[in-house]
Amino acid sequence: MKAITQASYGGPQVLELADIPTPQLKDDEVLIRVRNSSINAGDDVLMKGDPYLVRAVFGLTRPRVKVRGRDTAGEVATVGAAVTRFEVGDEVYCESSTGSFAEFTRVPEKFVARKPNSLTMEQAGCVPLAAVTALQGLRKVGKVQPGQQVLIIGASGGVGSYAVQIAKALGATVTGVCSSAKVAFVRSLGADAVIDYSTESVGTHHGEFDVIFDIAGVDDLHGLRSALKSDGILVLAGGKGGKWLGPMRRSSGAVLAATFRRQKAKILAASRNSADLEFLTELFDAGSVTPYVDSAYPLNDVPAAFEKFESGQVRGKIAIKI
Ligand SMILES: NC(=O)c1ccc[n+]([C@@H]2O[C@H](COP(=O)([O-])OP(=O)(O)OC[C@H]3O[C@@H](n4cnc5c(N)ncnc54)[C@H](OP(=O)(O)O)[C@@H]3O)[C@@H](O)[C@H]2O)c1
Repeated sequence: MKAITQASYGGPQVLELADIPTPQLKDDEVLIRVRNSSINAGDDVLMKGDPYLVRAVFGLTRPRVKVRGRDTAGEVATVGAAVTRFEVGDEVYCESSTGSFAEFTRVPEKFVARKPNSLTMEQAGCVPLAAVTALQGLRKVGKVQPGQQVLIIGASGGVGSYAVQIAKALGATVTGVCSSAKVAFVRSLGADAVIDYSTESVGTHHGEFDVIFDIAGVDDLHGLRSALKSDGILVLAGGKGGKWLGPMRRSSGAVLAATFRRQKAKILAASRNSADLEFLTELFDAGSVTPYVDSAYPLNDVPAAFEKFESGQVRGKIAIKI
């Protein structure tokens, strides 16, 4: 099968379109004929091996999993002997840990959900990682309740474009933070207010927010604490951070600093989960949340898709058509 693989860490130029064997199924797995995927920040991190901490976990000189991509939307091609919930031909979506910029990928049944009827394959391929991250950050970690004031920093990106819509669907009043060029986009997602970070600092909004979902990971932590209510929750999802540890140093510093306060700081470590995908399916089918596809690239143009991702020009998600 055709797949985008890499034999070393680096920029998009290390990616190659290769012919590799179709994956061998385990009993509890389904083989999916991948139709669509998308670019996530995590794919970029693994491609580059940046920060170095990633190399300690995923492979010292090159990633152990050679095929990039996690988001998966497609049809079930084969089922393992122990699979009970799916049949050949079912349209599904999920996250793959063995690579989805490929014609086929294998995924344990427990991580797979049916594709929402209301979404195209292209939209469904842009959902799993970013939307589940947004849902878990807001609902499981941030414990967002109806009527709360929620601030989303990084509202225009992959995770953020879902977070704005999901927080609204959970009944919150939402303020999004983004760059000047994307203010109209974040409003179009349903944000009640937008902060343009080039002209206004979050820290000037004293004690306004019950939950701050920090996806961008660049703001001064003192300012974020000042914008939180006295019993508010800061959810730390990401950011670039330093060359060795990435965002870990800033995030763990925030958690330590909150130890003796009523304000809480919590690190989000999102994990794939079919129950969360099924909850999202209800939101998509009800029309409460819509994936926003900025642009689409074919499999052989994945390096160009990464260049676009790194350009800072993207609104929402970049789709990959297999
Ligand atoms: N913890 C977890 O489990 C988990 C899971 C998934 C992703 N993540 C992390 O979440 C982050 C975002 O991922 P993504 O796929 O959504 O990436 P993305 O699509 O590139 O989005 C990045 C966002 O950051 C915003 N941003 C950049 N500089 C900013 C600033 N100074 N102030 C406010 N916002 C700023 C961008 O807004 P503008 O373009 O408007 O500048 C953009 O909306 C990554 O660091 C990723 O590693 C964490």
